[in-house]
Amino acid sequence: MLLLDACNKQPTQHVPVWLMRQAGRYMQEYRDLRAKVSFLELCKSPELVCETTVFACETIRADAAIIFADILLITESLGFKLEFAKNHGPIIHNPYNASHAFPENDIRTDYKYLSESISLTRAELPQHKALIGFAGAPFTVATYCIEGGKSKDFAKVHHMLHKMPDIFDLLMQKITTATIEYLQLQIDAGANCLQLFDSWVGILDSSTYEKHILPHVQKIFQALPLDIPTIYFGTRSKHLLKSMLKAVPTVIGLDADTSIQSTWPSLNYHPIQGNLDPLLLLEDFSVIAKQVDRILSEVNNRPGYIFNLGHGIVPQTPVENVIRLVEYVHEKTTR
Ligand code: CP3
Repeated sequence: MLLLDACNKQPTQHVPVWLMRQAGRYMQEYRDLRAKVSFLELCKSPELVCETTVFACETIRADAAIIFADILLITESLGFKLEFAKNHGPIIHNPYNASHAFPENDIRTDYKYLSESISLTRAELPQHKALIGFAGAPFTVATYCIEGGKSKDFAKVHHMLHKMPDIFDLLMQKITTATIEYLQLQIDAGANCLQLFDSWVGILDSSTYEKHILPHVQKIFQALPLDIPTIYFGTRSKHLLKSMLKAVPTVIGLDADTSIQSTWPSLNYHPIQGNLDPLLLLEDFSVIAKQVDRILSEVNNRPGYIFNLGHGIVPQTPVENVIRLVEYVHEKTTR
């Protein structure tokens, strides 16, 4: 599989491409499906997950599929009441506090639907396309548990981390243990590669990251089998990349603010993934092509590179631009 070869720094016939949030609201077919089922119902219906995952991958002709799920599903087995409210994003109705009761749940039972979704999807996808499993990194998941949803300033998170570090750490430990089992379940079901999303980690400085967050992320990557490549991605994480690499993911994801040219040498050419600004996909294709050319010239044919966006596709994106983008990267990099 092309994606796995690139993760392992092997030469590939062209640069592999997949895009974060490649299945979702920018596709009419997805919106039609969502008019009939809620987001959580969709995540928990293996046949619909398989259809959504494979359809997106085939439509845009990506080299890998990412299983349709969400980083917040894990919070349900930790005793949080999760809802995806219409036009509001995720809500946790019982935000984390010192008296939170963590239930004794079994991940294999709670996420049987995910296991089934992955085996169905793996069977449906062409052999040479990798299936990516994923989870949220402990800090990013913890921010939703503590804030009760998405936050602008993460005030409660900062407060708990600095004023009640033991209570914060207990949540991190519980998420970490659950995440290891959750990722192992995905491997057992047939995932070929795993990505850990640390979307909000960039709000931390590197010493806070190294003290309170890194040990948990390290534990996750250490627990996983060596033959399954891992990708660790954070946004606004330019100042943290060297610290994040101490967790030893196979690949490190770069966001759109990070310059490949000036960053890659300092990471000793550790395999990277990224990093076209997703908002560029709203522009004319000539604008997109120019930025892709710039990225590819910075990569300069080195092995250990996966093309992706610097963050997820936004809902207003024209599908046509996404299809052309994948095609363009393939054409430009074919050996
Ligand atoms: O990439 C894919 O195609 C696979 C599916 C996937 C989803 N969410 C589906 C989804 C993945 C990999 C995610 C990851 C995720 N979820 C992250 C990390 C990536 C990132 O964007 O930073 C985060 C922070 C979440 C949490 C989350 N889920 C939020 C904040 C929201 C609401 C805002 C939004 O972006 O829609 C969701 C809902 C969600 N997850 C949708 C989809 C397709 C939209 C649900 C809908 O209304 O249909």
